[in-house]
Amino acid sequence: MNQFGFFKNPTQITYGFGATNQFRNIIDQQGYKNVLIITDRGIVQTGLIDQLTRQLEDINFAVFAETKPNPTVTNCNDAVCLLREIQADVVVAMGGGSSIDVAKAVCLMATNDGPIAGYEGIDTCSNDLLPLIAIPTTAGTASEVTTFTVITDEERQYKFTVGGIRLAPKWALVDPLVTKTLPAHITAATGLDALVHAIESYTSKMANPISKALAREAIRKISANLRQAVFDGDNLAARDNMLMGSLLAGLAFNNTRLGNCHALSHPVSAIYGVPHGVANSILIPHVMEFNSLAAPELFGDIAEDMGENLAGLTLMERAQAAVNAVKKLSKDINIPSDFTSYNVDESQLDRMAKDALLSGNVAVNPRKTTYADVIDLYKKTIGGVAVEAI
Ligand SMILES: NC(=O)c1ccc[n+]([C@@H]2O[C@H](COP(=O)([O-])OP(=O)(O)OC[C@H]3O[C@@H](n4cnc5c(N)ncnc54)[C@H](O)[C@@H]3O)[C@@H](O)[C@H]2O)c1
Ligand SMILES: [Fe+2]
Repeated sequence: MNQFGFFKNPTQITYGFGATNQFRNIIDQQGYKNVLIITDRGIVQTGLIDQLTRQLEDINFAVFAETKPNPTVTNCNDAVCLLREIQADVVVAMGGGSSIDVAKAVCLMATNDGPIAGYEGIDTCSNDLLPLIAIPTTAGTASEVTTFTVITDEERQYKFTVGGIRLAPKWALVDPLVTKTLPAHITAATGLDALVHAIESYTSKMANPISKALAREAIRKISANLRQAVFDGDNLAARDNMLMGSLLAGLAFNNTRLGNCHALSHPVSAIYGVPHGVANSILIPHVMEFNSLAAPELFGDIAEDMGENLAGLTLMERAQAAVNAVKKLSKDINIPSDFTSYNVDESQLDRMAKDALLSGNVAVNPRKTTYADVIDLYKKTIGGVAVEAI
C-alpha cells in the first residue's frame, strides 16, 4: 500500500563541482555581516578553509576549528561563546558530520536558552535557529540535509540526538571537489556509513515509495564507486557518485530514521571513541543477518542493487547475498571486521545495550529487538567472532 503523510526536505541544495563558490552569493543576497565558520583542524590543514575565507575579504568572520570526531557538548559550548563574541548572524559548517552537527547545535543555542543536552529528543526547541550553510567534506553522514544533530555528552559518555525540522541547514552546498583530500581510510569508513544509511532507510518500517527510490539509487551508486574512491582518491567521477549517493541516502533516512545498526553504534562510539563510520561498518553485517529473517525480500533487493548475481537463488539466499556483498566491500576497503583493535570488551555490555535501546531507531528496525538480541549482536562484534567474508 502506497501511503505516507509528509516527505520533508527543508534544505535548499546546490550540487556540483564548484558548488562551494555559491557561498559568497548567499552571504550577499541575505546581507549577512558576521560569519562564524565551524570546522576541524584536519580540514584547516587541507587548505579548504583558506579557500573559503578568501571569499570573505570584506566581511567580519571567525573560525572555530576545535570540533572533535564524535563532537562533544564542550565543543558546542566553546563554539557558541565565539558566536556571541563576534555577534554572528549566520553560521557556516565546512567539514564532515562532526562539524556540521556542532554547527546545528550552535545555531540552536544561539536562539534558545540553556545547554544543548536539554534539547535531546525531537521538536524540543521553540525558537527558529540561526541560519546555517552546510558544506560537507565527507561523503558519509549527509548531515547537510538532515534534521538531526548527534552530540556526545562526555560526562555521561552518551551520544544523544536533537532533531526536528528547525535543525535542517537552510542551504547545502554539495561539492565533490572538496572530498578529494579525504584520506583513504576516512573515505572508506564514511562511505560505508552512507551505505548503511541507505540500507537501514530502505528496510525501515517507516520507508515509503520516495525514500525507497532514493535509498536504492544510493545503494547502487555507493556500492559501484566506493572501492575506486578509496583506492584512487583523484577519481572525480567516483567522488561525485559517492557524494551524490550519500546525499540521496540522507534525503531518504531523514524521512524514515535508521535502524539497529545506528542504535548499537552510538554507545560504542561514545564509550570507546570508535569513529562513527567504522562502528557502523563492523555492526552492519550482523544487523543485516538478524533483520533478514524478518524482511528477506528487502535484503534481496539490496543484493540486486549491489550487483550480485542472484540467478536461481531462493529468497533467503538472495538476502544472504546482500550480507556477503557488504562484508566483501568492507574487507576490500580494509575496514576491521570486529572491535578488537578498539579494546571493546564485555565489561560495558549491559550499559551499551540499555543505551542502544533508548534510540528511536530501534522502533523502526524491521525486526523487533529485545535486550537479549542487542547483547547477542554486540557479542558477535567483540573479540574476533565476526564471520569471514565469502
Ligand atoms: N546529523 C546527522 O544526520 C548525522 C548522521 C550520521 C552521522 N552523524 C554524526 O557525524 C559524525 C561523523 O561525521 P563524519 O563521519 O563525516 O566524520 P568527521 O566529521 O568526524 O570527520 C572525520 C575526520 O575526517 C577529516 N576530514 C573530513 N573531511 C575531510 C577532507 N575533505 N579532507 C581531509 N580530511 C577530512 C576530519 O578532519 C576528521 O579528522 C558522528 O558524530 C556521527 O554521529 C550525524
Ligand atoms: Fe551514520
